Amino acid sequence: MEVIILPSSKEIGALAADAIEALVRRKPNAVLGLATGSSPLPIYDELARRHDEEGLSFTQAHGFALDEYVGLPPGHPESYREVIRREFTNRVDIAPENVHGPDGAAADVLAACDAYEQAIKDAGGVDLQILGVGTDGHIGFNEPGSSLASRTRIKTLLEQTRADNARFFDSIDDVPHHVVTQGLGTIMDARHVVLVATGEGKAAAVRDLVEGPVAAICAASVLQFHPHATILVDEAAASALRLADYYRRTYATKPAWQGL
Ligand code: GLP
Repeated sequence: MEVIILPSSKEIGALAADAIEALVRRKPNAVLGLATGSSPLPIYDELARRHDEEGLSFTQAHGFALDEYVGLPPGHPESYREVIRREFTNRVDIAPENVHGPDGAAADVLAACDAYEQAIKDAGGVDLQILGVGTDGHIGFNEPGSSLASRTRIKTLLEQTRADNARFFDSIDDVPHHVVTQGLGTIMDARHVVLVATGEGKAAAVRDLVEGPVAAICAASVLQFHPHATILVDEAAASALRLADYYRRTYATKPAWQGL
């Protein structure tokens, strides 16, 4: 696990975009794992800018969303399918048919979850998974107590998560209780995971995921088992890390050839 502490979300977005750009240039048909929430937005802004101004192209790339609410009508502006479209895929040249998300409106949710796992496999697996983290340590919507080996399935949200996400809705009453999410095992299959977190509200989750024991109470801590996990945080999100100085020095002296 590599922890990189950067001054602001702008630098975080740029560094994550560097990793995605390097991947897409090396492997044009790369499979990107796409996250929602506010943390990844600077990454999408930077990728859209590079697409517009520098010719970065995603024509052969594929995208798989992490999660989706259950029960929102198709086309609801806060459904994650719409958010991903609005914030990223509509702003670049990725083919709409190459962008996928778990189906939160399926009549047979279990079958839809299995089909989603198969679709990721059929595309060759996720090359780079973008992640945020919830204040309770969730990734995707894998709430505390999630099996560390879980696959795509339905979950019930904690009230803390519904309250955190209420800002996107008119009222907390409109936030669904149920979601479908890639499992922790699904996320762990990605070849590279890049988790971004900013602000003091994420400091405890970042501490637990980076330096705490690996435990389902902080689902993101499973990333300690990932062979290639990059954690990009600002100073506020890094403020509870015991080894912050070590992470800073390690990055400052990192050989350029290593990349991310
Ligand atoms: C939601 C998403 C997560 C995201 C989290 C944090 O719960 N399912 O993928 O990481 O929100 O969001 P934010 O980045 O807005 O704090």
